[in-house]
Amino acid sequence: MLFLSLPFILAGITAASPLLLRDTTLSYDTFDNVTVYTAPAAWKNRGTLYGRVVLLNQNCEDDNVLLSTWTVNAPNKTYLPIYKSLDLGRTWTELTKVYFKTPNYTAIAQPFLYELGQPFGDYPAGTIFLSGNTFSRTGTAIELHASLDQGHTFVYVSTVATGGAPNTNDGGTSVWEPFILAHGGTLGVFYSDSRDPLHSQKLSHQTSTDLLTWSAPVNDAASKNYTLRPGMTSIAKMGNDKFIFSYELDKAAGFPAYAKQPIHYRIADSPFEFDNSTELPLVATDGTVASSAPQIVWTPAGGPNGTILTSASHAEDFFINTAYGDPSAWTRVVSGHGIGYSRALQIIPDTDGKVILVFNGGSWQDGPKEVSAGDFLIPGAGSSLDTISNCPSSDPDED
Ligand SMILES: *[C@@H]1O[C@H](CO)[C@@H](O)[C@H](O)[C@H]1NC(C)=O
Ligand SMILES: *[C@@H]1O[C@H](CO)[C@@H](O)[C@H](O)[C@H]1NC(C)=O
Ligand SMILES: *[C@@H]1O[C@H](CO)[C@@H](O)[C@H](O)[C@H]1NC(C)=O
Ligand SMILES: *[C@@H]1O[C@H](CO)[C@@H](O)[C@H](O)[C@H]1NC(C)=O
Ligand SMILES: *[C@@H]1O[C@H](CO)[C@@H](O)[C@H](O)[C@H]1NC(C)=O
Ligand SMILES: *[C@@H]1O[C@H](CO)[C@@H](O)[C@H](O)[C@H]1NC(C)=O
Repeated sequence: MLFLSLPFILAGITAASPLLLRDTTLSYDTFDNVTVYTAPAAWKNRGTLYGRVVLLNQNCEDDNVLLSTWTVNAPNKTYLPIYKSLDLGRTWTELTKVYFKTPNYTAIAQPFLYELGQPFGDYPAGTIFLSGNTFSRTGTAIELHASLDQGHTFVYVSTVATGGAPNTNDGGTSVWEPFILAHGGTLGVFYSDSRDPLHSQKLSHQTSTDLLTWSAPVNDAASKNYTLRPGMTSIAKMGNDKFIFSYELDKAAGFPAYAKQPIHYRIADSPFEFDNSTELPLVATDGTVASSAPQIVWTPAGGPNGTILTSASHAEDFFINTAYGDPSAWTRVVSGHGIGYSRALQIIPDTDGKVILVFNGGSWQDGPKEVSAGDFLIPGAGSSLDTISNCPSSDPDED
């Protein structure tokens, strides 16, 4: 890790924003737009999508290992690649390829990576979980795979949910887009659920304490109007101990044409109790409606209430909120990272909560066909609060 003692002007804030923020206290050598991966030239389908990244910091690790994955369309039998970075995202090397269990799958879509901060069943703290959704002629299946050796090898654990073959129309019965989060001694797998005949699609979760057996599905967001399709769960814990849950709401009426899946959010005391929370649209103070495939993090930097950072996929924009999700307090900022579908956000350690690694798995038809990474700086002051490590004796701040 290279530290420079140079002040810098915040990247990501341009003339389009009324804010001009400077930071003269943090010394960290940020980087931008490194290419992590492009598919081999010989592959018929070289598209990539849905980058995910996890910092291994839940088991008192002190070597700042990042693992990442994304979807590829490998010929014959595809897999999820696992890559590793030891320099906070600047360079990456391949660790392994993970094949899933579903017979004769044609794709593994929508991956997710998560590190356990506490033991569950046979899986100790520090176990890394990889989830993803297999597509086959007969169905969709959200599988869970675990690594007990920091991502070198993965083994199949269980299948959380299964549904019909991929079908985004009314009447389809697929499952999609897993997200993993533990809270209060229970681990939840959250996903998009098209199986309930009362809803074209809703968001559900199932919980477990051994990761082998799973509760019945519980609603997280289910619209009264059948047609609306909440999708793509992303959840963050905030400094006030509340949880913020963001998702897209496909088919919602009354939004600008560019906002095809306007992002909505809810706040609750537990990530397992969003169903009865108020649904709020994410609309910035300049009127921009955040749309499509959100990812959300909360960092203690940026003010007394920290900062919620949300990536959207309709444009390269990010949306920030320093008031614990107050619906009148979302500011649009230019991300500086180009458009990307469901860009992942990872807080980087020892940066006072100010540096967020943006991990971009690529876009649909028109966008980039590569996986890239770069840093985004949270506007405003840094924080000495270490909210991302799970270790009571984590290194003191170096600044
Ligand atoms: C894929 O399968 C086909 C037909 O079995 C075979 O000819 C081809 O070499 C395989 N490609 C790869 C990359 O394994
Ligand atoms: C998988 O494909 C093979 C070869 O086509 C076939 O024999 C087998 O029945 C299939 N399995 C399932 C579960 O569909
Ligand atoms: C349900 O949602 C659709 C799509 O936004 C809309 O056209 C329709 O008017 C809504 N129905 C009701 C009863 O609100
Ligand atoms: C929401 O409220 C209803 C009615 O009080 C209750 O039955 C349901 O369990 C609640 N959902 C959650 C997820 O807490
Ligand atoms: C921080 O949050 C508290 C409690 O929600 C609120 O009263 C206060 O106004 C917030 N401060 C800022 C700067 O947003
Ligand atoms: C990174 O790439 C994006 C998208 O192409 C571009 O807008 C941005 O200017 C680049 N940043 C740098 C520092 O080159």
